[in-house]
Amino acid sequence: MDVKDKTAIVTGASSGIGLSTARLLSKMGAKVALVSRSKEKLEKLSSEIPNSIAVQADMSRVFEVKRMVKEVNDRFGKIDILVNNAGIGYDALAEKIDVDTFHYIFDLDLVGPLAAMQQVIPHMRKQGGGAIINISSAVALMTLPNNAPYASIKRALAVLTLTAREELKNDNITVSVVYPYITLTDFERNTIRDVPVPESELEPHGPFPPDSADYAAQKIVEGIESGEAEIFAHDWLKNRARGNPPQ
Ligand SMILES: NC(=O)c1ccc[n+]([C@@H]2O[C@H](COP(=O)([O-])OP(=O)(O)OC[C@H]3O[C@@H](n4cnc5c(N)ncnc54)[C@H](OP(=O)(O)O)[C@@H]3O)[C@@H](O)[C@H]2O)c1
Repeated sequence: MDVKDKTAIVTGASSGIGLSTARLLSKMGAKVALVSRSKEKLEKLSSEIPNSIAVQADMSRVFEVKRMVKEVNDRFGKIDILVNNAGIGYDALAEKIDVDTFHYIFDLDLVGPLAAMQQVIPHMRKQGGGAIINISSAVALMTLPNNAPYASIKRALAVLTLTAREELKNDNITVSVVYPYITLTDFERNTIRDVPVPESELEPHGPFPPDSADYAAQKIVEGIESGEAEIFAHDWLKNRARGNPPQ
């Protein structure tokens, strides 16, 4: 899909990957609804980002997701693109996962994107098509200690995406999943941890240098443009998807 003159919802647009994606979409000529919990931050960003509006919503609450999509449709008149990006991490040993925290992450990282999809699909079908991009994670392709709660939910999001894609292909609605690699944002600091982590390890670290938020945003927009099923931040992640070790 060519994003010029299209309307887009970007959740988690107040910082990091979502903010970079919103800026890029606006630069490319799209109208963008900036969504997150931080009303004042969004309003300030909206005054800086051309053709954008601020819509406050807690994406872990289905009724707020419904209100948000209705408000965007009322204000823009249509919804062409949904980028389901809002999310936070949760690290814990499987044995020690706190069930209440797991439920919260499940609501935010999986049910929120599902609810947003369910709300935009009728609009997209009526318009003759659309693009939905769900932001998963490279860790959804891996089995790393302490990552069970977050990675399992991000893997579920990928399966949800690919299944919905099959179901919606005759409606000209492309549903894609993006697997970002470690990206320099506030993500690590916002991650809920039930495992002790020294302050020094709060900085992103991994086998390869981290990506910038702008790099991840570029991948997301490439996904909207190409309509590909799965967009990997790096080619070596495709090998992980096939169960091979990193190159
Ligand atoms: N950074 C990485 O290394 C990395 C790697 C792979 C995947 N990802 C994924 O990329 C996405 C974006 O993360 P990021 O790295 O950009 O992190 P970030 O800088 O912490 O941004 C997270 C965004 O989500 C929003 N958010 C959090 N809780 C929310 C809620 N309940 N309702 C609505 N919005 C909420 C935040 O806004 P408010 O606080 O204003 O609500 C913020 O805009 C996430 O889904 C994450 O899982 C990140």
